[in-house]
Amino acid sequence: MLGISDKVLEVCSELILSEKHLNEVMERLRKEIVKGLSKETNETATVKCFPTYVRNLPNGKERGKFLALDLGGTNFRVLLIELGGDNREPTKFKMQSKIYAIPQNIMLGPGEALFDHIADCLATFIIENSMKREVLPLGFTFSFPLRQEGLTKARLVTWTKGFKCAGVENEDVVRLLKEAICRRGDVEIDVCAVLNDTTGTLMSCAWLNPNCRVGLIVGTGTNACYVEKLENVGLWDSDYNEPAKVIINTEWGAFGDNGVLDFILTDYDRDVDEQSINRGKQLYEKMISGMYMGEIARLILERLTKDGHLFNGQGSDNLYKRGNFFTKYISEIESDKPGEYQNCRQVLEELCLNYITDQDCKDVRYVCEVVSKRAAQMAAAGVACLLNKMGEKSVVVAVDGSVYRFHPHFHNLMTETINRLADPGIKFDLMLSEDGSGRGAALVAAVACHNRTGPGN
Ligand code: GLC
Repeated sequence: MLGISDKVLEVCSELILSEKHLNEVMERLRKEIVKGLSKETNETATVKCFPTYVRNLPNGKERGKFLALDLGGTNFRVLLIELGGDNREPTKFKMQSKIYAIPQNIMLGPGEALFDHIADCLATFIIENSMKREVLPLGFTFSFPLRQEGLTKARLVTWTKGFKCAGVENEDVVRLLKEAICRRGDVEIDVCAVLNDTTGTLMSCAWLNPNCRVGLIVGTGTNACYVEKLENVGLWDSDYNEPAKVIINTEWGAFGDNGVLDFILTDYDRDVDEQSINRGKQLYEKMISGMYMGEIARLILERLTKDGHLFNGQGSDNLYKRGNFFTKYISEIESDKPGEYQNCRQVLEELCLNYITDQDCKDVRYVCEVVSKRAAQMAAAGVACLLNKMGEKSVVVAVDGSVYRFHPHFHNLMTETINRLADPGIKFDLMLSEDGSGRGAALVAAVACHNRTGPGN
């Protein structure tokens, strides 16, 4: 059996986290969360912990037809969801959806053009499905940091991931959506709730599983929400009626933006950050999520090749081009059976590399493993921190996102790590949440409409 090359082991060693590192990450995140929740310190906190105004988890009895909009990754989706009534069988929910691409020029252009595009897709969907006459309640999943002022009012704090549209930060995104719909004048909408994808994920899972208390996304970005007692939410400015709890959108992607993760950052992390459109921001997210993981691996591979330790020192323009090593390659390479390198060779050939030996494949796979394992462990430290903070005996964690879904070992790596980090006596399950951004949006809208029209309706 071939071993990993010494040089590769040496270069990768700085990405390996010890138990001490992980405990430190957990402890630092806990402090940041406490800072975020408190009224006095929220302004300067990096982990903002926004109250979502979602206080009721679904009880499985939600029913009706809803529209949902899902903006947050590279695609935008419009969904029509029908929740079916008094039992929780997944068959009791119907969904129809359409995906629309968001071109780069819109992701980086004026906000008005973005909202016109969203309104355009929504109107087309409504017209195509002959729904112009029904004004359905709508849930808007807007997966960016929102400072919520209520269920239907929320200001964008800052863009994250690949978006940077002028004129949206500090504005109420529900108002911007409504204005764009008005500008068209051909359809009507009834926005019942605006929510984060983590909240949708939690709600969607809670619909089936009443122990669900955490929503986690590891996809293009990473973030988590959890159910917190109102007495711990210094920021809370509304009533304390039962249930005296609220879902908190932690926006933990920004953890580390004040330097508290510098002790584990590597040159590759700093490079990814420097080349990003939001320099100095979302540092935890940049160590974990799909938008950046492939690039971290590529930077390591580039360095190893240029130093003559891979591919006989013969790189390719494709390997040396930023963004060219997609995170999905990591999932593919790690899906090869041990000792086989079929996917690995295919990826390397796509990158126009020649002279690939089995040793190269073994080393490339190791680089991918180190990068994805670090991501899974960092995310696990985050989840363990929330579990320890909540202190409940048994918690279901709803998870979604392309990295968690498609990486062959992410779930197991996270589970093992949380097992080591969570306080003794805490039981947990990581559960894949089916379509939080769609079904979850419908559920939040359902719970919101129910409250709006008064109990019993
Ligand atoms: C980014 C966004 C956050 C979202 C996450 C996952 O971190 O700021 O709101 O939940 O990506 O999509």
